[in-house]
Amino acid sequence: SAPNVAIVGVTGAVGQEFLRVLEQRNFPIGELKMLASARSAGKSVAFRDKTYTIEELTEKSFKGVDLALFSAGGSISKKYADAAVAAGAVVVDNSSAFRMTEGVPLVVPEVNPEAIEQAGIKLGEKPGIIANPNCSTIIMLVPVTPLHKAAKAKRIIVSTYQAASGAGAAAMAELEQQSREVLEGKPPTMEIFPFQYAFNLFSHNSDMQPNGYNQEEMKMVHETHKIWNDAKVGVNATCIRVPVMRAHAESITIEFENPIDEATAREVLRQSPGVSLMDDRESNRFPTPLDASDRDNVYVGRIRTDLSVTDGRGLSLFVCGDQIRKGAALNAVQIAELLL
Ligand code: A2P
Repeated sequence: SAPNVAIVGVTGAVGQEFLRVLEQRNFPIGELKMLASARSAGKSVAFRDKTYTIEELTEKSFKGVDLALFSAGGSISKKYADAAVAAGAVVVDNSSAFRMTEGVPLVVPEVNPEAIEQAGIKLGEKPGIIANPNCSTIIMLVPVTPLHKAAKAKRIIVSTYQAASGAGAAAMAELEQQSREVLEGKPPTMEIFPFQYAFNLFSHNSDMQPNGYNQEEMKMVHETHKIWNDAKVGVNATCIRVPVMRAHAESITIEFENPIDEATAREVLRQSPGVSLMDDRESNRFPTPLDASDRDNVYVGRIRTDLSVTDGRGLSLFVCGDQIRKGAALNAVQIAELLL
């Protein structure tokens, strides 16, 4: 029978996208619980042809729930995921709370679906937590993994151009409001970010580490190692926020053990699930964040040989992927589909 589902953080940017993705993919649902903070309790949300009342999240929210999709931030996941598991649910957690916890599978369905089975997690039988990786990591690994399988990646240099959505609905609203204020000659309101966001860009706002990399950058390093089950591949990330609403872009350069030419790389990517090629040199047409917005696939272009590496053992790419969708809600729902 169809699983009973709870959505934690249903009023957020990702929570709302969970509903759209579940509806579009016709995900089978028995009972559905909409959970958020006390601020939202009592408000209504529509799903399919029904209206639901939002309930306040408590430890008792998970009675009878088979599948809980969490996206209310790391501290909420840390506080409530165990209660969901104790009630018998499989938790798919979009936060960073459990990603690096041993025994918690960290899954991109196109890359390492086997990690769920290895952990023994089964809907209705063996509850547990499955972590959804960081959005930038997911969007990088969907196209880079098939190239890695073809020529064995040694080292990845990535620079991100990250959208507002990764910081939640309030950050998207701040970008919109600041844009309007700047155009009207008013001082921009700064509540979420410590910098002006409209008509500007800045180093990712996650905490800076003593090694000079911020947390977002280190997530890309550690999560790649865990998802690939390979701690040797070198990953060097520079994460930047740009004034874009909901899709991330990434410039990626990969050094391989083995040579791989552009034609082979293009063919590999053409056949890769979750990837769309947009690589038209003649008309200088490559992916933009708006091309990728509201789409499931990661768009890949600028596929070219890295001139700084000898023997054709290097490639550069420019990719764009919807942060709220493949970077969060869609990837989580695809994980849930693997459980069905
Ligand atoms: P609420 O709207 O009631 O505050 P975003 O990532 O877009 O900022 O969304 C965050 C989500 O997390 C929202 O749905 C928000 O609900 C939810 N949330 C925040 N704090 C809590 C809490 N203490 N208990 C339950 N949900 C929370």
